[in-house]
Amino acid sequence: MILIKGNEVAEKVLAECKRDIAELSTLGKKPGLAVVLIGDDPASRAYVRSKDKKCHDLGLHSVKLELPADTTQADLLAVIAKLNADSTIHGILVQSPPPKHIDEAAIVLAIDPRKDVDGFHPVNVAKLALEDRSGFVPCTPAGCQRLLMDAGVETSGANVVVLGRSMIVGKPMALLLMAKGQGGDATVTVAHSRTKNLAEVTRHADIIIAAIGRPHFLKADMVREGAVVIDVGINRVDDPTTEKGYKIVGDVAFDEVAPKCKAITPVPGGVGPMTIAMLMANTIKACKQL
Ligand code: GUN
Repeated sequence: MILIKGNEVAEKVLAECKRDIAELSTLGKKPGLAVVLIGDDPASRAYVRSKDKKCHDLGLHSVKLELPADTTQADLLAVIAKLNADSTIHGILVQSPPPKHIDEAAIVLAIDPRKDVDGFHPVNVAKLALEDRSGFVPCTPAGCQRLLMDAGVETSGANVVVLGRSMIVGKPMALLLMAKGQGGDATVTVAHSRTKNLAEVTRHADIIIAAIGRPHFLKADMVREGAVVIDVGINRVDDPTTEKGYKIVGDVAFDEVAPKCKAITPVPGGVGPMTIAMLMANTIKACKQL
C-alpha cells in the first residue's frame, strides 16, 4: 500500500509557484489574493488564516477581510465590486459557506470571472465543462487530480466513482476526470446520498474520490482489493483525549480501508494541503492572464 503524501506534492506545487512568482516579479508584477470571511465559524476562520499565511510565506500580496456575521448582501456586493476594480488583486475568494442570510450564488456571480480563483463562477464552470483551459478549476478537485497524476495512477479508461455531487468538489471532480488528456479520460460515476446499492457501485471502482462530508463513511466492504482512494473529507469529531476536544477525520474509515488499497491519501496531510497549493497556483494564473 502506497500512502499518497499530500504535504510533499503540495510542496512541489508551491516550488513551481515560487518560480512563477520570481518570473512575474522581473516583469514588475506581484500576484494578489483577497480572501473574504463573513462571520466567525471556527473552521472557516482556520482555513482563511492558513490561506493568508501561505500567501505571506510565498511572497504573494494578500488581503484578508473579516466581516461581521451581520454583514448585509449589499455591503458584501460593495466589497466585491471594490476588489474587482483593484488592480493589485488578481484572485478573490469568499469563504463558503457564508451566513444563511447571504445569497451565495449572487455573490459568486458578482465576482469578475477572471479573478474567480475558486472556479465557482458560471463562466468558469462552463469553461471546465467545455475543456477550455483558460478557466479556473476549483482548488480541491484540481488538487486531487494532481495527487493522482503525481502518484502515477492511470486514470485513462479507469472506473472512477466520485462520492458526492457538490459544486465545490464532486461535480468539478467528475468533469476533470472525464475530460480528454492527462489525468482524465476516465469512466466516471457520480454517486451520492440517493444512490441505490452504493457499496455495489463503489466496489466496481478502480479509483474512489470520497467527498461526501461524513466521517468514516467509506468502509472496507465498499472497496475492492487494489483500489486507489482519495479522501477529501475534513470532519471535526469530538475527542476528549485531545487538547482541543476534537480531531479531524476523513470520509474514509482509513484503518480498515487502507490495507485493501493500492494507494490512499491520509487525513490530515492528504488533500488538505493540496487545496491551498492549487489556490496559490490559480492566483498566479489569474495574475498572468489579467
Ligand atoms: N469552503 C470549503 N472549501 C472551500 C473552497 O475551496 N473555497 C471557498 N471559497 N470556500 C470553501
